[in-house]
Amino acid sequence: MSTHDDLFRRAQAVLPGGVSSPVRAFKSVGGTPRYVVRGAGAELFGAEGERWVDFCLAWGPLILGHAHPEVVEAVQRAAADGLAFGTVTLAEVQLGERILAAYPRHDRVRLMVSGSEAVMTALRLARGKTGRDKVLKFSGCYHGCADGMLVKSGSGLVSFGIGDSAGVPKATAADTVVVPLGDEAALREAFATYGDQLAAAIIEGVPANNGLLVQDPAFLRTLQALCRQSGALFILDEVITGFRFGYHGFDRLAGLEPDLHTLGKIVGGGLPVAAVVGSAAVMDQLSPKGNVYQAGTMGGNPVALAAGNATLAILATGEPYRRLDALGRAFDALPKGGVKWQRLGPIVWPWFGDGPIPTTDAGLDPAAKPAYSRVYQAWLDAGVYMPPSAFEVGFLSAVHTEAHLAQLVDVAARAHAG
Ligand SMILES: Cc1ncc(COP(=O)(O)O)c(C=O)c1O
Repeated sequence: MSTHDDLFRRAQAVLPGGVSSPVRAFKSVGGTPRYVVRGAGAELFGAEGERWVDFCLAWGPLILGHAHPEVVEAVQRAAADGLAFGTVTLAEVQLGERILAAYPRHDRVRLMVSGSEAVMTALRLARGKTGRDKVLKFSGCYHGCADGMLVKSGSGLVSFGIGDSAGVPKATAADTVVVPLGDEAALREAFATYGDQLAAAIIEGVPANNGLLVQDPAFLRTLQALCRQSGALFILDEVITGFRFGYHGFDRLAGLEPDLHTLGKIVGGGLPVAAVVGSAAVMDQLSPKGNVYQAGTMGGNPVALAAGNATLAILATGEPYRRLDALGRAFDALPKGGVKWQRLGPIVWPWFGDGPIPTTDAGLDPAAKPAYSRVYQAWLDAGVYMPPSAFEVGFLSAVHTEAHLAQLVDVAARAHAG
């Protein structure tokens, strides 16, 4: 029995499904999850001495790769000064300022621990501000695991073919209005029916939890206009897109002016940090200034914020983004064989279904799943680690090389050709 099999057997005896987050169980690609002992730069090291070029990158936070020396040093220095204080620190002021430099339309940041918590807080703020209960989301978009967002969701739910989670109160699910991505007529109809009851509409900057479902920016602008007309807040969920395409949010690329942004992943540089960003008029509704409650023992944890501050300081130089742009161009120029790759900035997704690359969850061909699983095993064998699900995206980092990208697409092309 391999080390991975042995560890996974022990894991299943103590952790539900053997994991701390569902997709890690490899259920949708088959086989045993690989136990990792170390990460350095673009590489992951396995418990049996394997080496993989990593394109999962902890699901997105590691835009600078694993264990970036400056980030690790900042974390070590902060840890030596104390792991947690549960009170105010300079680090939270600095991270707030760094985030606002990328969101100049806004004036306030609340720091917390996970993207799910940021979404939960943004929705509560919207409900507190408007006095309305319903929220509108899009089919196949994932916004973390808060109850109301687990209706027609993406990520692990689509990987396992569930869509809706059990355990969500019916009343909560009934307050979630779901609209298909890219369907302007359905969107207008939803606003015509529910507009005056909607506290908010939420959408991922780029839907990237159900494959990479690139939207026409005009659709997002229509959504924003309908929110304005109906008095609902427009929330751009940027847990993936924030700081991904440059030192700014996706709003800048799409010509949007959202009321609130939710951030996670990159802002923590690999440690648990998330944020809600917005104007003083909305954000000051949060306690202790306002009456919308949000709190956390670990909110603004100094060690986590050290990783976030160090990461954003490096990103602010612009150098990592210039490297990512160059890698993106190199990626486009590579021969892909019969595999269709979608790429937006440093986000890549191979599509193994028939027909053109889909832009809605309705277009996702289930035949892509077994094809992805076959290629997945070839990647693992050839030293490439991608997310273990056909519907999760891969990430490029500033420390990948052109040779790493060639390895990724070449193994896929050969395995797919069979
Ligand atoms: C767009 C989006 N929103 C929210 C979340 C939830 O973030 P977290 O996993 O940190 O709770 C995710 C996680 O992948 C995400 O991609």
